[in-house]
Amino acid sequence: MRAPLFRTTITELFGIDHPILCGGLQWLADARYVAAVVKAGGMGFITCLSFPDDPEGFRREVRLCRDLTDGRPFGVSLAISRRLGTNDRLKPFLDVIVEEKVKFVETSGDSPDPVLPHLKDAGCIVLHKVPAVRYARSVERLPVDAIAVVSGEAGGHPGLFMVGQIVQGVLAADALHKPLALAGGMGTGRHLVTALAMGAGAMLMGSRMVVAEEVWAHRRYKDRVVAIDETANRLVMKIFRNNHRVLDNDAARAVEQLEADGATDFAHYEPLVAGARAREAYRTGDFSQGMIDMGPAGVFAREIKPVEAIFDEILDEAAATMARLSKTQVT
Ligand SMILES: Cc1cc2nc3c(=O)[nH]c(=O)nc-3n(C[C@H](O)[C@H](O)[C@H](O)COP(=O)(O)O)c2cc1C
Repeated sequence: MRAPLFRTTITELFGIDHPILCGGLQWLADARYVAAVVKAGGMGFITCLSFPDDPEGFRREVRLCRDLTDGRPFGVSLAISRRLGTNDRLKPFLDVIVEEKVKFVETSGDSPDPVLPHLKDAGCIVLHKVPAVRYARSVERLPVDAIAVVSGEAGGHPGLFMVGQIVQGVLAADALHKPLALAGGMGTGRHLVTALAMGAGAMLMGSRMVVAEEVWAHRRYKDRVVAIDETANRLVMKIFRNNHRVLDNDAARAVEQLEADGATDFAHYEPLVAGARAREAYRTGDFSQGMIDMGPAGVFAREIKPVEAIFDEILDEAAATMARLSKTQVT
């Protein structure tokens, strides 16, 4: 593991060596991946959404991660639903988080208000992820410990406003007082330095990490990601105000066509967008099906290699960038 290069509000809060967070990845961020991130000096989050209706499966994954990290703290990612009355399903997952003494929780999707009392009473450190500065401002009033602001480039759910990182990062740093991570479009050492220069305490990645050797997905899917360029993603589900940035594939094009045709009945979309289709794509390597979360930062995933080697590459580039910048100083 590389020696620490930076000490920031986020490295202090999470007790990690590097200001690199790897956000929740539905179906992919399991114990093996998260443990690899933790051992490489960052922080990762086992994703509850990968265990629909299976809190005991989630508990087993948490226990496995504890074994794999030799007891070092790690995180879990908990998606809050915007749909009224659906957050009752989170209760058994919250119970597992508390009973298994998980230290760090990434929340996303909607206000963490309903789950915060549970998590804070149990002593969890909570990072809430939002897709715009305006949400960050209101969430800062809640007892969250840190905030991640996601930009329009992000893979997965970039929100409705689609403000790019280069503008939003500065605005977020100016607006917020709590430890801040910037997410969306990040994937290199130059991005890490930029995130810190904009005023954040870390960068948070998703798309760039999916080819990590420790990610269980099929080799064919990873080979596809290694081959893509920055244009190989599509923004779908705009018609439902549920923007979803995914890999450009047959299913995404079919969804776009439905949207272009003005189809508003979700039943038409369901067979294409059901989460199980993406899981199948990861399992079989048939990446033509499913909504497979992916942003342009996937272009930085140029090789399949272990998480630690990815971190080394990022940190070496960050160090070289700092050295280069210091040489451009006039005085
Ligand atoms: C394959 C994949 C799955 C994701 N699943 C989740 C998820 O379940 N929960 C969540 O909060 N974010 C999820 N995200 C978003 C990431 O945690 C992160 O916020 C985002 O990828 C950052 O932008 P980037 O893709 O440009 O790096 C996912 C992203 C990807 C690429």
